[in-house]
Amino acid sequence: MERIFLHPDISLGIIEMDKAHRLLMREIMDMMQAPNFEFVSRLPHLVELLEMDFRGEEELMERMDYPDLRAHREQHAELLGTVHQTVAKAMNGDYLLPRQVLNMLPEWFLWHLVKMDASLVKALKAAGAQPINRAVSKPTHWAEREPQHIGFV
Ligand SMILES: [Fe+2]
Repeated sequence: MERIFLHPDISLGIIEMDKAHRLLMREIMDMMQAPNFEFVSRLPHLVELLEMDFRGEEELMERMDYPDLRAHREQHAELLGTVHQTVAKAMNGDYLLPRQVLNMLPEWFLWHLVKMDASLVKALKAAGAQPINRAVSKPTHWAEREPQHIGFV
């Protein structure tokens, strides 16, 4: 299964996003192999990685007034809600559902990358985001002010 997430096709071309996704996938794969006591102790870190990744994307979308922000954010929120529920269960010694959720995360991510994240990257590139010192700036026609940093390439 790890092969899927090391495949170059999951790379979206935005370094910070790709880095966050690789970090998440590595953590998920490691947790799949972990015994229950380690699994439960690593869950909060997984939640933190998810929240950081999603927050980063959402900030990017907000800055560029991305039209699909709401739908994209809803997918993030739905997954986070599910994962938060599993943390509570795992803390109470019920590992079945938490492990099932963890096992479906790679598939969810692949689907989300294709359905949502790839469109975001496409929109960034179509809008003419220009790299400046590794940072992508909002094209000047999007606003009548100085370009803003909206991500990394
Ligand atoms: Fe996303």
